[in-house]
Amino acid sequence: MEAPLIDPFARAISYLRVSVTDRCDFRCLYCMSENMTFLPKAELLTLEELDRLCTAFVGMGVEKLRITGGEPLVRRGIMTFFRAMSRHLESGALRELTLTTNGSQLRKYAQELADCGVKRINVSLDTLDAAKFAEVTRWGRLAQVLDGIAAAKEAGLKVKINVVALKGFNEDELFGLAEWCARDGHDLTFIEVMPMGDMGEEHRLDQYWSLKDLRARLAERFTLIDLADRTGGPARYVRLAETGQRIGFITPLTHNFCESCNRVRLTCTGELYMCLGQEDVADLRAPLRASTEDALLKQSIRNAIARKPKGHDFDYSRQNVAGQMTRHMSHTGG
Ligand code: GTP
Ligand code: 5AD
Ligand code: SF4
Repeated sequence: MEAPLIDPFARAISYLRVSVTDRCDFRCLYCMSENMTFLPKAELLTLEELDRLCTAFVGMGVEKLRITGGEPLVRRGIMTFFRAMSRHLESGALRELTLTTNGSQLRKYAQELADCGVKRINVSLDTLDAAKFAEVTRWGRLAQVLDGIAAAKEAGLKVKINVVALKGFNEDELFGLAEWCARDGHDLTFIEVMPMGDMGEEHRLDQYWSLKDLRARLAERFTLIDLADRTGGPARYVRLAETGQRIGFITPLTHNFCESCNRVRLTCTGELYMCLGQEDVADLRAPLRASTEDALLKQSIRNAIARKPKGHDFDYSRQNVAGQMTRHMSHTGG
């Protein structure tokens, strides 16, 4: 058994998020610009290389693997990769194999995902209004995503809906979204919009709706019971006493959760980001390609973890919000 990955703040790294593509079939306003330039395909790691990298991490104590993008299900051959990763579930090395998706391809892939041992998935869905959905994704079709979610349910997958809280956009849907999730049997998590990407400062501040406020509004109608259990992600959960429904809050801005961070992010070109909200990055592609043995690669991973920072420094109260992080969310997969 290899020594686990421990960072300088004594946090064990057990969760790897892997962005398998920077591409997406949507262009959510807070995530991408309309005219994104995507990486040339030749720059992407092959699925075999991604397999080697993930396998190295699993050997070093990673127990949870979340596949992200861009939109992970638009990467060609992605099911081959899921099938390959499922061997780590079978061996017991991995506790969870999952993904975060926009749902557009779920009708096609839900059953295969379930067959690979995926048990629960996170689907991004910010509104239940078809016109608003087309607006926020720039052209997405709500009906296609709802059908994808239905397919996931039919395949026995547990679905968690991720809603980015957007001022003036989905404020009026707070209860509608909660009721729909309760009726359809999904968990629900709200996320504070993070200042990433190249959008103007004013625009970003306009979008920001603090979850402190959202939570207070929920509390006007429901009794919120704080829950201690976590999913290994950053969300903190409450149960609504009246309906029994579970609701999560991801609050990088109003309640920093970095002290319990257990994760790092691998991009589709083999860069390792030690924190979503910092620019420091380690290149794993060079050591991966330098040798077919994993010794150098694993040493590079350990060196990277040894530089993991204490936390992000997203902050809307600072003057220059737009300048804080120009990297797009789709680069590191959220
Ligand atoms: P669960 O396994 O269900 O807990 O999922 P998760 O919350 O880890 O993953 P998901 O992909 O659903 O992430 C939801 C949101 O949380 C995304 O917007 C991410 O950007 C954000 N998020 C996840 N991890 C971090 C983190 O370490 N730091 C920050 N600032 N945001 C994060
Ligand atoms: N702030 C917060 N969440 C974001 N996501 C994408 N961009 C942002 C942002 N700037 C969310 C997506 C998805 C998850 C992976 O990240 O909606 O649920
Ligand atoms: Fe695509 Fe997700 Fe980004 Fe929207 S948030 S553009 S669905 S990667």
